Amino acid sequence: MKIAKVLLLAGSVAVLLGMVTYASAQGIKLLTPENGMVGMGTMADLPIITLRTSTKAGKEMFNDTTLGMNTTGQSCATCHSAGGSIGGTAPMKWKGMEMQVAIPTLKGAAAHFPAVRGPMKVVTDLMGMNNMCIMTFMKGRPLNKNSHQAIDLESYVASLSKGKRYDPGAEKTLP
Ligand code: HEC
Repeated sequence: MKIAKVLLLAGSVAVLLGMVTYASAQGIKLLTPENGMVGMGTMADLPIITLRTSTKAGKEMFNDTTLGMNTTGQSCATCHSAGGSIGGTAPMKWKGMEMQVAIPTLKGAAAHFPAVRGPMKVVTDLMGMNNMCIMTFMKGRPLNKNSHQAIDLESYVASLSKGKRYDPGAEKTLP
């Protein structure tokens, strides 16, 4: 009986060691707080706040001309006025090429993500898209996706899609 238990334990240790060795050989990082991967710990660290207050805070960020410490004097509303679109295009530089990108409305936009966007055709989520606009068009610094600021901005942008049919992958909507 005892021998069986020892063998079982030794076997389990061997399997575990094998898994860790395999993972590191494949370059797979185990999810630990030490290597920067975060799990529920982050959620537990966020302040308790209602969706309503989060959306309200996000709306303020949306109209903030210094968001992401940008110095262009633009806010999200500069292009997406009241969550819609001012129409026309915005300039963008990619691989040295200047291009004009049509400005979509954000009404219903949140229901389209994840989706393929940008000249580099990457799959992005809504937060990624918000950050893309901060970086590309406002020349600001992106929000940490684990921060409540990023969630607040997402709450507001998502509120513009309330009641819309969820349609991941859909094209942007032009006015
Ligand atoms: C200078 C104009 C400009 C500003 C400022 C701007 N955006 Fe955008 N936004 C665009 C353009 C242009 C696109 C379309 C990009 C594309 O198709 O790749 C876009 C796309 C988006 C989308 C995706 C819509 C869809 O259906 O594809 C979201 C979400 C978005 N913006 C949110 C924001 C938020 C939030 C801010 C503020 C942090 C912001 N934008 C600031 C011009 C702007």
